[in-house]
Amino acid sequence: MFQLQLLLSLLTLSFSTQSYSSTSGLSILPSKPNSLSISVTKFGAAGDGIHYDTVPIQKAINACSEAVSKNRRQCHVIFPSGKYLTATIFLKTGVLLDIHRNATILGGPRLEDYPKERNRWYVVLAEDAADVGITGGGEINGQGLKFVQRFDEKKNVMVSWNHTGACLGDECRPRLVGFIGCRNIEISDVRLIEPALWCLHLVRSDNTSISDVTIYGDFNSPNNDGIDIEDSNNTVITRCNINTGDDAICPKSSTGPVHNLTATNCWIRTKSSAIKLGSASFYTFKNFLFDNITIFESHRGLALQIRDGGNVSDITFSNINISTRYYHPSWWGRAEPIYVTTCPRDATSKAGSISNLLFVNITSTSENGIFLSGSGGGVLSNLKFINMNLTYKRWTKYPDGWVDYRPGCQELVKHQTAGVMMEHIDGLVFENVVMKWSNDESMRWNNPLDFRPSTVNNISMLNFYSRSYQQ
Ligand SMILES: *[C@@H]1O[C@H](CO)[C@@H](O)[C@H](O)[C@H]1NC(C)=O
Ligand SMILES: *[C@@H]1O[C@H](CO)[C@@H](O)[C@H](O)[C@H]1NC(C)=O
Ligand SMILES: *[C@@H]1O[C@H](CO)[C@@H](O)[C@H](O)[C@H]1NC(C)=O
Ligand SMILES: *[C@@H]1O[C@H](CO)[C@@H](O)[C@H](O)[C@H]1NC(C)=O
Ligand SMILES: *[C@@H]1O[C@H](CO)[C@@H](O)[C@H](O)[C@H]1NC(C)=O
Ligand SMILES: *[C@@H]1O[C@H](CO)[C@@H](O)[C@H](O)[C@H]1NC(C)=O
Ligand SMILES: *[C@@H]1O[C@H](CO)[C@@H](O)[C@H](O)[C@H]1NC(C)=O
Ligand SMILES: *[C@@H]1O[C@H](CO)[C@@H](O)[C@H](O)[C@H]1NC(C)=O
Ligand SMILES: *[C@@H]1O[C@H](CO)[C@@H](O)[C@H](O)[C@H]1NC(C)=O
Ligand SMILES: *[C@@H]1O[C@H](CO)[C@@H](O)[C@H](O)[C@H]1NC(C)=O
Ligand SMILES: *[C@@H]1O[C@H](CO)[C@@H](O)[C@H](O)[C@H]1NC(C)=O
Repeated sequence: MFQLQLLLSLLTLSFSTQSYSSTSGLSILPSKPNSLSISVTKFGAAGDGIHYDTVPIQKAINACSEAVSKNRRQCHVIFPSGKYLTATIFLKTGVLLDIHRNATILGGPRLEDYPKERNRWYVVLAEDAADVGITGGGEINGQGLKFVQRFDEKKNVMVSWNHTGACLGDECRPRLVGFIGCRNIEISDVRLIEPALWCLHLVRSDNTSISDVTIYGDFNSPNNDGIDIEDSNNTVITRCNINTGDDAICPKSSTGPVHNLTATNCWIRTKSSAIKLGSASFYTFKNFLFDNITIFESHRGLALQIRDGGNVSDITFSNINISTRYYHPSWWGRAEPIYVTTCPRDATSKAGSISNLLFVNITSTSENGIFLSGSGGGVLSNLKFINMNLTYKRWTKYPDGWVDYRPGCQELVKHQTAGVMMEHIDGLVFENVVMKWSNDESMRWNNPLDFRPSTVNNISMLNFYSRSYQQ
């Protein structure tokens, strides 16, 4: 009854005037006269960070969504200042979570806070919804530290909810925000903090805009990826700041292709790969642009980790500054600024092809070289590296001398360190490439360029310099 009355007054208000009432959460936003809004506090949310506000939040979302279907306008669910502890909340068509600057949505840390099915374990989940989003300047926090069983600066040991049989393995924890089968998603001006597992996950979705998003996850916690774009098309990411233990921007294909992904104007630090295609790579990756990105002290910079037979083409990386260093080898990554690999994960997998990669205006300072590895049969072809300033030096004490094929393939293989290590490539251009080598005696840069003509065919170099580097 309470809810019905609210809904009725909401509808009335929406047809009144362009002015707005400041007395309640049922006001029409002044900035967007065409949208409705409603506050979770009107449904009884306490916002004290202690009591669960799941029911009031869900009621507000449902009321908002109903109003949307009647009015054909977007509806904001407002979270005023406060901390809103909640079990999974389900975002509905037409609804935007509008989390105000001092407001935090806190994900519950208990198994019973999440749905039965493991693939629906998110704090905020939208399924088969359209015109949805999150905004407002506030925060969604997964309380990831509560999932640390033992802190370890190499890699934390995490709690795994694998005792019920709903999930097996050591990655049984909830993700933070998920959009599954959605279209027209807008996520802007929000902080996504301490996910217990992946942070922002797009699945089989289309037309997503992600802007001014800050993502922070504990540097020592595994699997706290920043943004995973899985089987989804037409995704634009801009002005992001991502600081996580695991991969920062990570397109994956499991049940369908990924087309048209753009990420620009971002700053990234990670103990894994800053940008990584894969390793789930069963279908096509096509038409990606990564531009104006700073990658700071990460374990790997720009990575293609293709393992499952999907084909990759037309990928551009431009205007990118990278520094990569060694971390504990239990993390994938060996300080490579650029890493392009395709190999069959195991005996049942195929090698996907990678073609038409352009790297332009790239500056890097790294503890290891670039690694480019195809698998025979010409699957790695047409790579261009233009305007590259590559500085090689060592500043950590971790051992070197390995090439990293993980996951699967040949795993870790002893090999001398090279400036660019190449194998099984057909067609590669270096143009305007400067390599600078630190003259530190402790560092053995064995081979500036490491390749065999029997597996690397048709390579050209134009304006190629190599010189020693003084601090
Ligand atoms: C946000 O919280 C800070 C510190 O608690 C306070 O000073 C500020 O007034 C609050 N801002 C809003 C918009 O509530
Ligand atoms: C459950 O997770 C732990 C790690 O937290 C792992 O050691 C164990 O093997 C997992 N057990 C099962 C049955 O998946
Ligand atoms: C994509 O989504 C935005 C809202 O996020 C919408 O304005 C736009 O019309 C959508 N584009 C298409 C082609 O549907
Ligand atoms: C993405 O585009 C491809 C190619 O058009 C299509 O096969 C696939 O279904 C699309 N995926 C989604 C989620 O729309
Ligand atoms: C990818 O973008 C191009 C150019 O904007 C567009 O023509 C194409 O339809 C898009 N692909 C998909 C699968 O939406
Ligand atoms: C590059 O990104 C930074 C933010 O990381 C931004 O300040 C700058 O304006 C961008 N440059 C261009 C040319 O867009
Ligand atoms: C990369 O560094 C150069 C030189 O320091 C600077 O001019 C450029 O703006 C930087 N680009 C990015 C994306 O940070
Ligand atoms: C990748 O390309 C090869 C060769 O064109 C093709 O046989 C294979 O089916 C493609 N793989 C996928 C997953 O589309
Ligand atoms: C590369 O940098 C040059 C000079 O800074 C600039 O003129 C050019 O547009 C850049 N290329 C790309 C593809 O951004
Ligand atoms: C590389 O360094 C030279 C100066 O040593 C500079 O002129 C050029 O713009 C730099 N290129 C890139 C891509 O940073
Ligand atoms: C050699 O490689 C370049 C660049 O990838 C390509 O454009 C060219 O067609 C290749 N030539 C032959 C003979 O394969």
